[in-house]
Amino acid sequence: MNLAHVHLLLNHFPTVGMIVGLGLFVVAILSKSDHLKRASLGVFFCIALLSIPTFATGTSARLALAKTPEVSTAMIDTHETAAFEALGFMELTGALAWLGLWQYRRLSRVPQGTLVAVLLAGLLSFGLMARAANIGGEIRHPEIRAGTDTVETAPTKPPLARVIGDGMVNLKWGWPASETVHFIGLSLLFGVVLLVDLRMLGFMKGIPFSALHRLLPWGVLGFGLNVATGILFFVGAPPNFYITNSVFLWKLVLILVAGANTLYFTVFEQPWTLGAGDTAPVAAKVAAASGIFLWVGVIFCGQMLPFIGHSF
Ligand code: HEM
Repeated sequence: MNLAHVHLLLNHFPTVGMIVGLGLFVVAILSKSDHLKRASLGVFFCIALLSIPTFATGTSARLALAKTPEVSTAMIDTHETAAFEALGFMELTGALAWLGLWQYRRLSRVPQGTLVAVLLAGLLSFGLMARAANIGGEIRHPEIRAGTDTVETAPTKPPLARVIGDGMVNLKWGWPASETVHFIGLSLLFGVVLLVDLRMLGFMKGIPFSALHRLLPWGVLGFGLNVATGILFFVGAPPNFYITNSVFLWKLVLILVAGANTLYFTVFEQPWTLGAGDTAPVAAKVAAASGIFLWVGVIFCGQMLPFIGHSF
């Protein structure tokens, strides 16, 4: 098994997951069910996370097919561009969905404006994902192509991701500026993670969770900055640069689990009831300890890219 298999395994999650998420979301709005609204927002957030490895492992599928003459490189390029556009909107949908979950905790409702924004971004993401998936399917299945060779004979232009990646690399300040933003994002994210998780583990007991909860958007902003700049590094480097590095793969896995861990502190009732001087329940302590462990793991793998494997 190689990462092309993983791409073939993951690539149906964004489209099928969005059908499930959007279906739930529409029923939730029509039935005015807060439980369903929160469940669908959680689904959107998880799909946004899963879309990252789906996109990254696509590069492995491309590399695996590089020497297969019957496969059109132009079609893979078209698929990559469609996937890149879909990924951008999917990450936006995930961020808005998280905001909705956070607002529900603070206001006991998800504001109308957030619901409309999630619905619009979600519909757009689904349309773009379905388009990317359809072109992906056409790569190996001529029988489902609409016209004759419409995509294959299209003039070969470099995939959008590569154009943006090259643009970033060719700017003298592009890579250093992205590294700086990546570091600021990391500091924001890890700063908030440490405060929240250490409080759960019994430090700074005088602070109620409701006060720390206000800081969560700063942590998620840091996460968003790092996802955006991380994607820039990925598309700016040669295709085989990161994806063939085992430490990078560990980093991707840890980001997925650590991102999902964030949901515990946004959604669940248990930590929210913690007042000044209270001891956190065992589940919150376990989530906090694993949160620190996972994010330290992400940082470690990022730092080790030049030393383990062969990136840089
Ligand atoms: C979130 C982003 C992506 C989604 C949703 C997606 C979806 C898909 C789907 C549905 C297929 C068809 C699988 C099948 O035939 O059963 C596919 C195949 C493929 N994708 Fe993607 N893809 C994404 C990103 C990428 C990227 C960035 C690349 C890099 C160039 C890529 C390269 C490929 C290749 C080469 C195949 C053909 C694999 C084969 O049939 O052996 N994909 N993708």
